Amino acid sequence: MNCAAEENKAQVRAIFASVCQRYDLLNSVLSLLFDRCWRWRAVRLLRDLPSGPVLDLCAGTLPLSLELAKQAEERTVLAVDFCEGMLRAGLRHLPATGLQGRIFPVCGDSEAIPAPDGTFCACTVGFGVRNLSRTKQGLAEIHRVLRPGGRLLILELSRPKNPLVKPIYNCYLHHLLPRIASLCAGHRQAYEYLASSIAAFYEPEELLAMLRETGFSEVRRRQLSLGIVSIYTGNK
Ligand SMILES: C[S@@+](CC[C@H](N)C(=O)[O-])C[C@H]1O[C@@H](n2cnc3c(N)ncnc32)[C@H](O)[C@@H]1O
Repeated sequence: MNCAAEENKAQVRAIFASVCQRYDLLNSVLSLLFDRCWRWRAVRLLRDLPSGPVLDLCAGTLPLSLELAKQAEERTVLAVDFCEGMLRAGLRHLPATGLQGRIFPVCGDSEAIPAPDGTFCACTVGFGVRNLSRTKQGLAEIHRVLRPGGRLLILELSRPKNPLVKPIYNCYLHHLLPRIASLCAGHRQAYEYLASSIAAFYEPEELLAMLRETGFSEVRRRQLSLGIVSIYTGNK
């Protein structure tokens, strides 16, 4: 196993462990509650799939797992994350939702998914693919655990290209967001990481090419909120 990748994972895990108790609140504040609409919209794109278990990778405090369970009555969700604190913070809210019998959180690495080949009818990754140390390895693992005909759905922040939106967004991301995060939760460093991880992530065309190289077909990107967020889909 690559040492740099392992070090990077340890760092990412520590960052999320430090914000896990405030993650949901900060997400809602920093996205002005848009995060809920983005997840709702993303999960709607899975409504035509045949029933079967869904894998939610980088599940964090389980917001996307909950949306998956809410939108399809018989759906079961395996929620995988390598930060135990994030999963535990999400678990606290599960009983109140009545969905706990259909969401199964597991501590594990998205780059070595703890499931046999061809298990899931869909796999979602909400705001997590950017955090993977080895993106290609993660995508190959997702491809492995999907059934033939299964769908991958990635919801991810992106850099808007619109010349009017871009400077406002950059100012928000690099200056305002770390300050608000620091005021709300005292975790400026974690949200500086968020800004730098968005800046360092692949261009949408690069990610789409990687999906095709991994073996996904009908690969597609949909932009939300003026390109601040993208939904990528592909079929096995
Ligand atoms: C920004 S949070 C996203 C949480 C949630 N999916 C959402 O929609 O808000 C990213 C999550 O990815 C997890 N993560 C990052 N790299 C991972 C990996 N290699 N394996 C499993 N989880 C990982 C982090 O622990 C963190 O909980």
